[in-house]
Amino acid sequence: MKGGFDANVIRQDFPALKRMVKEDVPLVYLDTTATSQKPKQVLDCLNDYYSNNNANVHRGIHTLAEEATAGYENARITIGKFINASNEKEIIYTRNTTEAINLVANSWGRTNLNSGDRIILTEMEHHSNLVPWQMLAASIGLEIDIIPVDDNGLLDLHVYEQLLDKNPKAVCVTHMSNVLGTLNPIKNMAINAHDHGALIIVDGAQSAPHMPVDVQDLDVDFFAFSAHKMCGPTGVGILWGRYELLDAMPPFLGGGDMIKRVHLRDFDTNDLPYKFEAGTPAIGEAIGMGAAVNYLNGLGMQSIWEHEQDIVSYAMDRLNEVPGLTVYGPEAEMRGGVTAFSLDGVHPHDISQILDGDGVAVRAGHHCAMPLHERYKLVATARASFYLYNTYSDVDKLIEGLHKVKQVFG
Ligand code: ALA
Repeated sequence: MKGGFDANVIRQDFPALKRMVKEDVPLVYLDTTATSQKPKQVLDCLNDYYSNNNANVHRGIHTLAEEATAGYENARITIGKFINASNEKEIIYTRNTTEAINLVANSWGRTNLNSGDRIILTEMEHHSNLVPWQMLAASIGLEIDIIPVDDNGLLDLHVYEQLLDKNPKAVCVTHMSNVLGTLNPIKNMAINAHDHGALIIVDGAQSAPHMPVDVQDLDVDFFAFSAHKMCGPTGVGILWGRYELLDAMPPFLGGGDMIKRVHLRDFDTNDLPYKFEAGTPAIGEAIGMGAAVNYLNGLGMQSIWEHEQDIVSYAMDRLNEVPGLTVYGPEAEMRGGVTAFSLDGVHPHDISQILDGDGVAVRAGHHCAMPLHERYKLVATARASFYLYNTYSDVDKLIEGLHKVKQVFG
């Protein structure tokens, strides 16, 4: 327990954390980087919405439609305050981080980038912040430059400075690596990008759930994140963008709600934020995301961050005790609660399978970051990730399990 933050009490809110994986084997959930577990406050909110208020939004004038619309729009305000957006109209509901980045690439990118323009990506990006840009580059003829990852798992900012001198139009970078845990210096990177006339587009899928985020203080241009990694439901995410940028962008998807009027051969686009929300959205899930934000706010994002720093630092110390184990990425002080590792002579899938026998859930694979694994000459890693409900005891069970893996593989 640190500063009154007691993960043993908090975890009582999460029904899934009380289950057995098999008889007498409780779950030790260390896969939050893939998706978080959900507290009963969010589950109750979803149940209540679908039981009592379920209706479509912005379309009906009956009581349920008005309640659903109010819930959906109130959640937008809550989420906007969570990242300190200056205006809730800057909060666009998407399906997830991936769709948010595809929206920027296709709407902002196709309008503002031309053949021969340069964009900067990094070697530690998730596929969701690589592939949409690669698709755009192939379609309109962009040049892609890459910031490499150094031997400490940090972005090589010296190379970044050099690439900025080539006058890129955009820098697309993750706030926190989903493999190395590296926390990138986004505020400084944004200052540098803007000094060179480039926009900065940030994948916040791994930062927004774990630490205080203030998009105005970071001074970024776009910021994307997902509900399901922050105690909320799947199927809803957020694109935040600066108002004047979003306002000048054309719609991404066409259909209901993103129009003011439709004629047989053309249409008039709706205002922000509806311009980017075509079709019936994930209404209950957006409301559930608002409940998740309220839950996180109740605990305090700074307290959550400090708890995770404590756990990851303990985990790094204990992982280093396991002979033949390599943890990738920077020291604990420079990372969030993510540890990807390999164990000499054992495939990560075997590590995961043996750990699962003791109820310990970790992810094994390339974690949607193949180029980063190539940089380390790896095909896959095992990854343990931590959140507000994890304890030292969870880490101890991971370490016990890893010793068992070593015994099995000699
Ligand atoms: N992006 C998720 C992960 O890193 C799915 O596991």
